[in-house]
Amino acid sequence: MRKVKGFFKKYRGMMPVFFLMLLSPALMATLQKTKDAYGLTHEIDTGKKVYQERCLICHGVEGNGKGPVDVVRRAEKTGRIIEIYSRDFTVGVFKFRSTPTGCLPTDDDILGTIADGIERSFMPSHKEVLSSEEREAVKEYIKAFSFRWEEEDPCDAITVKKPEGVDSPAFAEKGKMVYKEMKCWECHGYQGVGDGPKADDLKDDWGKQIRPFDFTTGALKRGSSPENVYITFTTGLDGTGMPAYEDSPSEEDRWHLVAYTLKLMKLKGRAE
Ligand code: HEC
Ligand code: HEC
Repeated sequence: MRKVKGFFKKYRGMMPVFFLMLLSPALMATLQKTKDAYGLTHEIDTGKKVYQERCLICHGVEGNGKGPVDVVRRAEKTGRIIEIYSRDFTVGVFKFRSTPTGCLPTDDDILGTIADGIERSFMPSHKEVLSSEEREAVKEYIKAFSFRWEEEDPCDAITVKKPEGVDSPAFAEKGKMVYKEMKCWECHGYQGVGDGPKADDLKDDWGKQIRPFDFTTGALKRGSSPENVYITFTTGLDGTGMPAYEDSPSEEDRWHLVAYTLKLMKLKGRAE
């Protein structure tokens, strides 16, 4: 009994805290309900926390890409310096979509970007550092920066059916013709090193200078599987000037183009 008394004496000052601790689950539940009533879900709270810890440094408090690290410079193999800007989410324009050009991305597209990161952009992978719930929550949080999700209906992802033979020389040979016909070289250059006649004057939707991909610099931002390359020129990279080739060339020719693009990457800028 003395012991118990002693305990109360010692921790008397702490009593309100103990009391609150007992109450807290009930208190939290009430607070949560009140918040939900205003449309702020628990998910958004988690999303905010994750965002502040992991994304804010680059994407900024207001999601406008103006965090402390708003631009990084990267030296290409050619010696050219490329400036890479953290994405401004307020416009709601996304590069890496499986949906047609002009559409919002699917939730899975954004989750894929968050999980895998973006090659050559310093946007890190979050597969190991965030749980799938946290990635889901932060995805919802960044969507809230733009009104587009409230105003627009979602689009369906395009269908991607890889044919046999994409890695064959015959496919790549045909693709070389398509690369010429579709004037990919105007931006990407005759040998794919990103030095076409238009390459120096491109600006992205955010008003910043942007360079066409130099196929010799390694991994593609979206990922280098044939399917990813096919999606890139079928749906375009919205906001970058990289067009969407939806109807022309034909689906078959687009697969030829995939083969040639991947071959260019292997050739590393050396002419055949
Ligand atoms: C070190 C800086 C950095 C950090 C940290 C970072 N990002 Fe990024 N993020 C970038 C850059 C740079 C881009 C633009 C890349 C580009 O366009 O080439 C980008 C682009 C994006 C995009 C746009 C993809 C598209 O389709 O256009 C999403 C979504 C994104 N980031 C989400 C996040 C989330 C969520 C977090 C935190 C969990 C995060 N980023 C953390 C630098 C960062
Ligand atoms: C008007 C200029 C322009 C034309 C024409 C153009 N591109 Fe691009 N392309 C770009 C720009 C700019 C980027 C880089 C975007 C970025 O880094 O965010 C790019 C990036 C790419 C990428 C890399 C995507 C990634 O995941 O990193 C591929 C592949 C590509 N283009 C293929 C093609 C092919 C094939 C054609 C012709 C059918 C073509 N491009 C025509 C401007 C162009």
